[in-house]
Amino acid sequence: MHWAVTTYDTAFGYVSAHGAPLVDLLDPQPGEKIIDLGCGTGAFAAEIAERGAAVLGIDGSPEMIAQAKALHPELSFAIDDAHCFTTSESFDAVASNAALHWMTRDPDAVIARVHESLRPGGRFVGELGGEGNCAELIVAMQTAWRVFGLSEPELPWYFPSPAEYAGRLEEGGFTVRLLEHAERPSRMVEGPNGAADWIRVYAPGALAEVPPELVEPLLQRVNDLAAPALRRESGWVADYVRLRFAAVRKADGSSSVY
Ligand SMILES: C[S@@+](CC[C@H](N)C(=O)[O-])C[C@H]1O[C@@H](n2cnc3c(N)ncnc32)[C@H](O)[C@@H]1O
Repeated sequence: MHWAVTTYDTAFGYVSAHGAPLVDLLDPQPGEKIIDLGCGTGAFAAEIAERGAAVLGIDGSPEMIAQAKALHPELSFAIDDAHCFTTSESFDAVASNAALHWMTRDPDAVIARVHESLRPGGRFVGELGGEGNCAELIVAMQTAWRVFGLSEPELPWYFPSPAEYAGRLEEGGFTVRLLEHAERPSRMVEGPNGAADWIRVYAPGALAEVPPELVEPLLQRVNDLAAPALRRESGWVADYVRLRFAAVRKADGSSSVY
């Protein structure tokens, strides 16, 4: 028997998702219309476009979209909220990298908007922080805030378990083809000062209520608390845990056949 190796490796649902580029799981085809939801400055949208698909990048941040347009003038971008965006045409796929865990207001509303924008059979492929993401970082933050007599920091993320997110996708009219929940320790590239720099970039809201004179000692305490778990000889590592999924929009009115 001859295996079609390329297809086996990359075809939807069979790709070895862990560690492979998300774009390979999406597997964009020339001529497909694909949304990059929470596109940021458009790097992932550009990867999708390189495979010949027509991409629309959507992001709620005007600053991100301005930068995306400047960096990738040949691509289409729009400012919109993932909880309520609408499209005038059907898309073949919606992809999202490192963005769905920021869309905390109503994850079901985001899934409903994605469903609405896809043709039946269209793909929804994404990667987000999963349950346990940044657990060491978060415990270090919460402990430091307590030590300084501050109330617990407001954290801006939603890190669902695989079971929870699969349930939401199924309830939302999708068939889940692949779902992976994997540890992905990653070098912190945000700055030399470890967890402190990471918080300034990814959780600046948590610092908003902190008296200015406490910010530096508070962040230093976070570093002290997080260092045993997250500082390596080669540098700081974030304890990322990722949820990666690929789902297909069910045909309208379809039911499972056993
Ligand atoms: C960490 S960035 C990821 C950007 C990009 N996908 C990437 O891979 O580099 C998260 C992005 O999600 C966007 N975002 C967060 N909440 C959003 C929402 N409700 N609607 C649309 N975009 C949102 C942010 O503006 C930000 O650009």
